[in-house]
Amino acid sequence: MKRVAAAPSARADSAGEDFSDPGFSDAVIRWQKQHGRHALPWQNTRDAYRIWLSEIMLQQTQVTAVIPYYRRFLERFPDVAALAAAQPEDVMAHWSGLGYYSRARNLHRCAQQVQAQYGGVFPSDPVLLAELPGIGRSTAAAISAFAYGTRAAILDGNVKRVFCRVFGIDGFPGAKPVEDTLWRSAVALLPQSDVEAYTQGLMDLGATICTRSRPSCMDCPLAQRCVALATDRVRLLPVRKPKKAVPERHTSMLVITDKNQVLLEQRPGTGIWGGLLSLPELDRLTREDSAPSEHFESAVAQAIAPFGELASCERLQPFAHVFTHFKLHIAPYRIRLAHRVPMVGQADHVWYPTDKLAEAPLPAPVKKLLLAVFREADLLP
Ligand code: ADE
Repeated sequence: MKRVAAAPSARADSAGEDFSDPGFSDAVIRWQKQHGRHALPWQNTRDAYRIWLSEIMLQQTQVTAVIPYYRRFLERFPDVAALAAAQPEDVMAHWSGLGYYSRARNLHRCAQQVQAQYGGVFPSDPVLLAELPGIGRSTAAAISAFAYGTRAAILDGNVKRVFCRVFGIDGFPGAKPVEDTLWRSAVALLPQSDVEAYTQGLMDLGATICTRSRPSCMDCPLAQRCVALATDRVRLLPVRKPKKAVPERHTSMLVITDKNQVLLEQRPGTGIWGGLLSLPELDRLTREDSAPSEHFESAVAQAIAPFGELASCERLQPFAHVFTHFKLHIAPYRIRLAHRVPMVGQADHVWYPTDKLAEAPLPAPVKKLLLAVFREADLLP
């Protein structure tokens, strides 16, 4: 890696903060126009609905994963009015697999609010945008810049990484005082014009050049002014979050089948997988490495009594799913019924046709499990 001296004008330290540096935005804009991304599906439009949708999908998800969801979503919900009028299950079904489902619930609420409060037109003021569900300060700025050309500063994870490296900021960027410094620098660095190219340029740099591991410093338009590069700290910045032990939870999922149908349960509106369908669960009564115990089987028989009589209980391969705040160990069981009982007062349960599971609003790991089970059993097309 070539060592270069850092330009003194772009220094950031807690004492004499001076982030104004037109050379910074000029370099980002020039680079974006020549080397940045220009053909993403949400570019080359001023349609705030499309831009908003992309920014929400991209909040915690990579571009390549978002693209097919984005296209399908727009086909089904082409504008704010269509989304605002949709049934929540329909919205969830089109989000199913993207993860972080509170985004979908907020998205729906936001569309309804924009429809009711602003006649279906997103406001251009980032302060008003940030009052809408699911839109934080950085997302509001991105929508406003891309849809309306507003001079507003973004600061997502990628941009924080670029700033921490270029200015040699060595506090954890999630800590409030460091984040405040980063926001001040983001505002001070905004160019007077061409804010769209600048905003996209920061995103593109963070995603393609100034990556978390193995950044391409040789191709970086900010290399000349990068403190981390000049001081050989690219690998060390941004400073990682102090590690906490990830809590672990355990659950058993019951794959209860009868006549090419599987029993699914509507999850409560809040919490993990809120609003999606999922498999009925039992608190774990058995160890992962053991066959179903008699105790477990009688608990299963009791739990499924409102749906039918237990014929057999077979242990499937356990697996784990990692969320942001905990790791969930899932022990799945295949349950066959001797005979089904008509459901009474079980409005949150549904017998779902196995050949429709691919389109069902299920959490990704549950869908994967079910598709594997039923593909093996030849119950899917
Ligand atoms: N990440 C967040 N917003 C983005 C955008 N508009 N283009 C590419 N990646 C992004």
